[in-house]
Amino acid sequence: HDFIDTMSTPIVVKADGLCGGKGVIIATSHEQAKTTVNDMLSGSSFGDAGKKVIVEEYLDGFELSVFAICDGKNFITLPAAQDHKRLLDNDEGPNTGGMGAYVPTPLVDDTLMKKIENDLIAPTMEAMISEGHPFEGVLFAGVMVVNGTPKLLEYNVRFGDPECEEIMPLIESSVFDLFHLAATNQLGSLNVTMQTNKVAIGVVAASKDYPYKSSVPAKITVTQEESENAHISYAGVTQKEDGLYATGGRVLVCVGIGNTIHEAREHAYGLMDNVHFEGKHFRKDIAYQALAQ
Ligand code: GLY
Repeated sequence: HDFIDTMSTPIVVKADGLCGGKGVIIATSHEQAKTTVNDMLSGSSFGDAGKKVIVEEYLDGFELSVFAICDGKNFITLPAAQDHKRLLDNDEGPNTGGMGAYVPTPLVDDTLMKKIENDLIAPTMEAMISEGHPFEGVLFAGVMVVNGTPKLLEYNVRFGDPECEEIMPLIESSVFDLFHLAATNQLGSLNVTMQTNKVAIGVVAASKDYPYKSSVPAKITVTQEESENAHISYAGVTQKEDGLYATGGRVLVCVGIGNTIHEAREHAYGLMDNVHFEGKHFRKDIAYQALAQ
């Protein structure tokens, strides 16, 4: 509590046993930060995952998800995605694992991407080599850009959900080659190509009580054919005899692809309007920062 009192608000409190935005509370007052820490440490908010906490400075900027495919020595970054971690429009409500994402984002230019590669990813790769643990796989940098400077929030060693659902359809060159060459230390000068001038947007449909508690399974019906420009990636679902049921928190992602952000959004949200299950909720403002550009 004394440490919290030395910090300026807002203050970020994280349950250390959770990752990817889960178990993260942004406290707007010292009192809220202390109550949050108490609830986590007592196990009442996140069980064992909250018994160790991290309290840190709040960084005011915009968030990016950057994926580097690494072969132990070399790496290739894919176009940066922007996730939307808060449950509600205008980045309000509790943090979630991600309610929607889009790629590429106009918030990133070549200069910023080079900074991310040179200041964050490359030193991490080098440090892992020097520690005797060269990294092969997907390095997912959660980045906050504060006044043009990328700050690393966290690394995950996996793709992001829902970022992966938008990045994959845009990769034009062979994904197999990308992963195979990474896994066999031969990434070298592989040229990964993306579909030219295409944008993909994914909007997550969540179940009724997400992220607070699990919801009663709800039958899903879809009243639109999927197409090249609009498809569904299913996640928190169970196949039963009479069809598909929403049984997880983040149930599915409607992915729209288009020549512009507007077009991709129309495709994603058009499909979302034709997805039905009781309690379905989703953010209506995915990619709002790009639209404001
Ligand atoms: N969308 C954030 C994550 O996958 O961790």
